[in-house]
Amino acid sequence: MSIPETAINARPQPSVLTRHDFPAGFRFGVATSSYQIEGAAHEDGRGPSIWDTFCREPGRISDGSSGDIACDHYHRWPEDLDLIRSLGVDAYRFSVAWPRIQPTGSGAVNAAGLDFYERLVDGMLERGLSPYATLYHWDLPQALQDAGGWDNRETAHRFAEYARIFAERLGDRVRSYATLNEPWCSSILSYQIGEHAPGLRDRRAALSAAHHLLLGHGEAVLALRSVVQQAEVGIVLNLNPAYPATTSPADAAAARSFDGEFNRWFLEPLLVGEYPRDTWEAYGQDVPDVHPGDLQTIRQPLDFMGVNYYSRGLISASGPARAEQSEFTAMDWEVYPQGLTDLLVRLKTDYLVPPIYITENGAAYHDVLEGDDVHDTARVRYFETHLNAVRAAADQGVDVRGYFAWSLMDNFEWAHGYSKRFGLVYVDYGDQRRILKDSAKWYRSLASSEARDD
Ligand code: NOJ
Repeated sequence: MSIPETAINARPQPSVLTRHDFPAGFRFGVATSSYQIEGAAHEDGRGPSIWDTFCREPGRISDGSSGDIACDHYHRWPEDLDLIRSLGVDAYRFSVAWPRIQPTGSGAVNAAGLDFYERLVDGMLERGLSPYATLYHWDLPQALQDAGGWDNRETAHRFAEYARIFAERLGDRVRSYATLNEPWCSSILSYQIGEHAPGLRDRRAALSAAHHLLLGHGEAVLALRSVVQQAEVGIVLNLNPAYPATTSPADAAAARSFDGEFNRWFLEPLLVGEYPRDTWEAYGQDVPDVHPGDLQTIRQPLDFMGVNYYSRGLISASGPARAEQSEFTAMDWEVYPQGLTDLLVRLKTDYLVPPIYITENGAAYHDVLEGDDVHDTARVRYFETHLNAVRAAADQGVDVRGYFAWSLMDNFEWAHGYSKRFGLVYVDYGDQRRILKDSAKWYRSLASSEARDD
């Protein structure tokens, strides 16, 4: 007798992967970001951010929502930390909302904002979770945007000042700092493509923003190191390995140019101290104004490189192509785990890359709540295949130290509002109930497996 599909799906399967499949000391974690989960947008002196403004512009967010309430994490953080602890993970990657620390992005510090992150960090330490802080996950104080945002060189200096303020208060407890999350998104997607705040469509401004983000990163690394001697400092990039759609030379050239704009434009200033020449030439008049010394500032030695990986780019001379035989997530992103192995191996081959953390990896699917269950088998498979891809890279000698699932819980997915769910944990936005999906139970079985002792 064959077992009906539903009966198979109803039983969450424990992970076949265990900690023994990963290098000694490998860390498992979960990730979130401030604007996506905190809510409490107007509490305790938080200033407005560019996302508060953007969400109020009609048509920007597909479901018309905002992060005003989100997962109400600002109030529910103790139970959320308990939840993380219950998953058996080692680490929590969270981000700090700059407008809670400096409501106008410069000058006066808001003590209540620092107090919140102090409570949160102490809460992690009490539960045995290592804090991995990200200082900029896109919620720029609106007052800085009013002065030009990242297109204004001054914003880089303001960012380093804010990094210093945070580290002066929490440097005795937070060891790991990522300066920026995905600068491609906060420049190109935000200033050129117009899909993220501030929603501009201006390539020159986008490349200037990218340069000032990188400069702000370099200055922030220096500030963090001067305050916290044992700080581990890095940056998080979204890398999208490019594959030509066919073997034609035109597609190969298109893939190379995509790689230049998406990946090398950020990797090379950081790791080599130069912008990639081919892409620089292709950008013509729109290239940024690079002052003498900028690239030295940008190319700081890093303790880690954070890699966010979701999919690959399949590129043809006429634009992005689609591998029809592949699976796609609810974001319509191709599921391509091999891309993660290829990417990690390539980072090792092409660059003097510091130790790597997978700072985000995960997938949105159309989850269905059935009683107290969400049988998200596709997400379990996604995590399993991608963790296997990480393991394959480690087996090929890539120094990869940890993996953070995106995300702990469903949250505000930027221009998609609440319509896309990336969580291991389902959030019922009606009553803020958190419900473990099968993927959370699966991840728990992996994270709770016995540690290696070598
Ligand atoms: C990357 C971003 O860092 C995060 O904020 C976002 O939710 C995920 N990708 C999924 O799109």
